[in-house]
Amino acid sequence: MNIQTIGVIGCGLMGSGIVEVAAKSGFDVIVGELNQEFLDTGMARIHKSLERAQSKGKLTEKEASAALARMSGTIKSEDFAPADLVIEAVTEDLELKQRIFSRLDQVTQPDVILASNTSSISIAAIAAATNRPDKVLGMHFFNPVPVMALLELVRGSLTSDETLATAQAFGERLGKTTVVAKDSPGFIVNRLLIPYIVDAIGLYEAGLASKEDIDAGVKLGLAHPMGPLTLADLVGLDTTLAVADVLYEEYGEPRFKAPPLLRQMVTAGLLGRKSGRGFYDYRQG
Ligand code: 3HC
Repeated sequence: MNIQTIGVIGCGLMGSGIVEVAAKSGFDVIVGELNQEFLDTGMARIHKSLERAQSKGKLTEKEASAALARMSGTIKSEDFAPADLVIEAVTEDLELKQRIFSRLDQVTQPDVILASNTSSISIAAIAAATNRPDKVLGMHFFNPVPVMALLELVRGSLTSDETLATAQAFGERLGKTTVVAKDSPGFIVNRLLIPYIVDAIGLYEAGLASKEDIDAGVKLGLAHPMGPLTLADLVGLDTTLAVADVLYEEYGEPRFKAPPLLRQMVTAGLLGRKSGRGFYDYRQG
């Protein structure tokens, strides 16, 4: 299938990164949000990221303007009609995703692939809201999307070989390396990542080490680019909690159980970098 126009629903942390990478890779991108305010915030994030890439010499002014010209924002679902592929990147809420997929099923051409950037939710459950489960799959990107090399593809029980092959080819055009996982909670990466972050928060909560020492221990002792608490702040504590809850509900194993501290922080609005405070304070930039 020839893909030129893609749709991205949700222009938050992940959605805006997907839009940026797709537009820089030469795709026309229709960007959808719930309302104009969210759309403006998401587009501003993309502008900032493109400016950052320019200032680092990774992108010329001409390339950045061309990427911006390929993006068009909307708050109407019917504007996704011309899309050849749509990626949903909204919050981890099955009902919301099902509503979006059901609507996309109505407004897009029947052969269009509908993908979800879900971190943990069942692809089969999302696909069930459509009449094209063979054309539904998971396309799980990693934060920050412009930097991370991986695209994890998740094959639902009814996803066709053709859909998977098209998604692999699309991932390559974005410059990503793809891996394929079966439709099981957490797929490959989050199934490994969440118990690690949960353990690190538990260690901190128990007062066994300072947050700085936990992070320095992993960063310097294991050569990770950042420690687990800094990483949780980057991913977003709300997202981390949502994924942990799905995994715990599905597997019932204590290693996935969110520590009370994580839940308290999310309730208090301490969501990490995106809200300015998490384990660390980002308000001074
Ligand atoms: N957007 C675009 N580019 C960015 C960026 C962003 N948000 N953040 C950093 N970069 C670029 C920088 O421009 C720089 O590029 P350069 O080397 O060509 O100049 C490069 O990345 C390194 O950035 P910095 O020097 O500013 O900082 P670091 O060296 O500390 O790197 C990092 C930052 C890339 C975020 C690195 O710390 C890292 O890889 N951290 C781990 C990230 C990770 O594990 N992500 C996966 C999270 S799990 C997930 O997303 C799944 C979900 O479902 C939970």
